[in-house]
Amino acid sequence: MGRLNGKVAVITGGALGIGRATTLRMAEEGCAVAICDVLVSEANAFVDELVGAGFEACFWPLDVSREAEVDKAFNAVAERFGRIDILVNNAGVVGANKPTDQLTEAEWDYVQNVNVKGVFFATKHVIPHLRRAGGGSIINLSSIYGLVSAADVPPYHASKGAVRLMTKTDALTYAADRIRVNSIHPGFIWTPMVEGFVQDMGNEAEARVSLAALHPLGHVGEPDDIAWGCVYLASNEARFVTGAELVIDGGYTAR
Ligand SMILES: NC(=O)c1ccc[n+]([C@@H]2O[C@H](COP(=O)([O-])OP(=O)(O)OC[C@H]3O[C@@H](n4cnc5c(N)ncnc54)[C@H](O)[C@@H]3O)[C@@H](O)[C@H]2O)c1
Repeated sequence: MGRLNGKVAVITGGALGIGRATTLRMAEEGCAVAICDVLVSEANAFVDELVGAGFEACFWPLDVSREAEVDKAFNAVAERFGRIDILVNNAGVVGANKPTDQLTEAEWDYVQNVNVKGVFFATKHVIPHLRRAGGGSIINLSSIYGLVSAADVPPYHASKGAVRLMTKTDALTYAADRIRVNSIHPGFIWTPMVEGFVQDMGNEAEARVSLAALHPLGHVGEPDDIAWGCVYLASNEARFVTGAELVIDGGYTAR
């Protein structure tokens, strides 16, 4: 407890899944949390729970692919909490699961707009706030799909590969400002995103067994498995860690 005392974190996509677990763990570690998401009622209900439990939490409705919304929300967070120290670039979408030759331009753009341009806009607009705070930590949710391939979701693979290298470039660019930038690469984690993916695979029971078998540890992960990685990268314990890839995948990429 108290690993993030006095800090302020912005978590994009904080209403559900990995973002929600990360928000809760960060709040428990003493951090004020700002949830930015497109899901208004889910986020408001979550903030009510957090505030009811005695944590400092607020929600700003925001689509990460819209630059003006990102800029406005981050300024509002800084005004409300006095500073921003941590950004978790977590909002993401899977998009169309079709072979490349069958994808439309709109399907391609949808995924890049949220997963890549969203990380760009959020990083761009948080930098002045982190500089004012004297440094900070940016955590980008890439994926095992940003490290190795699989014969599915081509736009998603492209987007997560981009996030991996955006992370390293920004780590080098902002190191002098004491702003650390790292990526996390989860294996499959039980969230609404993966529930949807499994439902699209047809036989749901079989799909669950085959997904688990992809991970040498023998099961799919839980949102908390990633949330604790985010807490670590956000904390002073990770003060010498930047440009790193934190792989949390039950051994998926170890083969
Ligand atoms: N679940 C997994 O197995 C897994 C594996 C590897 C990487 N990831 C990555 O982790 C991140 C979180 O995934 P998840 O499984 O929790 O997803 P999820 O779909 O369960 O939750 C995503 C959250 O992001 C929000 N969001 C989506 N588009 C948004 C936008 N344009 N603006 C603001 N918010 C938006 C959603 O409303 C939701 O609250 C994503 O970047 C995902 O690609 C997930």
